[in-house]
Amino acid sequence: MENLKGKTAFITGGASGIGLGIAKACAKEGMNVVIADMRQSAIDEVLPIFKENNWPAIGIRLSVTDRQAYSKAADEAEAAFGNIHLLINNAGIGCAGGPLWEVSHKETDLAISVNLTGVLNGIQEILPRMLRHGEGGHIVSTASKAALIPVPGCGLYNVTKQAVVGIMETLALDLDGTNVGASVFCPGGYETNLGKSSFEVTAELLGENSKLPPPPPPKDGEEMPIIEGWDEVIRSADDAGERVVRGVKRGDLYILTHSEFKKGFESRANAILRAFPDEIPNKRYSEVFPLLTYNPVFDKQTQVPALHKE
Ligand SMILES: NC(=O)c1ccc[n+]([C@@H]2O[C@H](COP(=O)([O-])OP(=O)(O)OC[C@H]3O[C@@H](n4cnc5c(N)ncnc54)[C@H](O)[C@@H]3O)[C@@H](O)[C@H]2O)c1
Repeated sequence: MENLKGKTAFITGGASGIGLGIAKACAKEGMNVVIADMRQSAIDEVLPIFKENNWPAIGIRLSVTDRQAYSKAADEAEAAFGNIHLLINNAGIGCAGGPLWEVSHKETDLAISVNLTGVLNGIQEILPRMLRHGEGGHIVSTASKAALIPVPGCGLYNVTKQAVVGIMETLALDLDGTNVGASVFCPGGYETNLGKSSFEVTAELLGENSKLPPPPPPKDGEEMPIIEGWDEVIRSADDAGERVVRGVKRGDLYILTHSEFKKGFESRANAILRAFPDEIPNKRYSEVFPLLTYNPVFDKQTQVPALHKE
């Protein structure tokens, strides 16, 4: 979707961090912005930024896990700005850590419900509206770099984010030939409020059963860096917003952020390639099952240039 001006973006988790970065980048393109977030306090905190800049924006309190509320939120967005053209499924939580066999059923269900079902809810509620209005559109879902190179001890997070990659790849296949595009955003490390918001959202959705550790105490108003060297590598969420908007305009299936992760992904991809048995393929197989063996949709992804030339 090349021209974003005057169109409407619906951004879940838009009141903080990466979602807010995306919301600001969309507003700079002249879009109307709908910030859908579970935390009303965060919505109230960020709406003045949009007002000060004369960027058209509304906030809607929504948990992406609530299908009925999602439907009402989409109606509310359309009542404010008309058709929705860009859906950003960005709301997500940091999940209970530890190996998969040690996390509780409740934590498992919560991780799936926010990070996975929440994305499907967005697609199932808003994509039919986009296809109906026919003006074209695009859907981006935020996964993570953890979906490409799984992080040890973060099982629930890894698998829910890998599922988001699968959802968006499948969507790209199924939307091929329509005027609606699909992208999966896999950011590396960004300075956000994920620790704090995950704690609050988990506490609200799970009650007292959350085992997530509370976020680190603030130091001079800032969250304390948790890793040595953090300040030298962590990026601002505005950078994420810029990359997502560029990816939407380019029609990229994969919107990635850090070339530092390329080697790790290559090693995983190569491991999978080596696992195919070293046998001569039956040529008839690809004739009988053409789209099972090869899909040209992936060939459309071109090399992404540097965002800012050195
Ligand atoms: N920060 C990073 O380095 C990083 C890296 C990879 C992926 N991500 C992903 O980026 C996305 C945004 O996270 P962030 O880092 O900007 O954190 P953030 O806390 O700054 O923003 C997340 C927002 O999502 C909202 N949210 C959470 N659950 C919700 C729900 N059920 N319904 C509606 N809103 C909900 C929160 O209230 C919060 O405002 C998440 O999906 C996260 O997993 C973040």
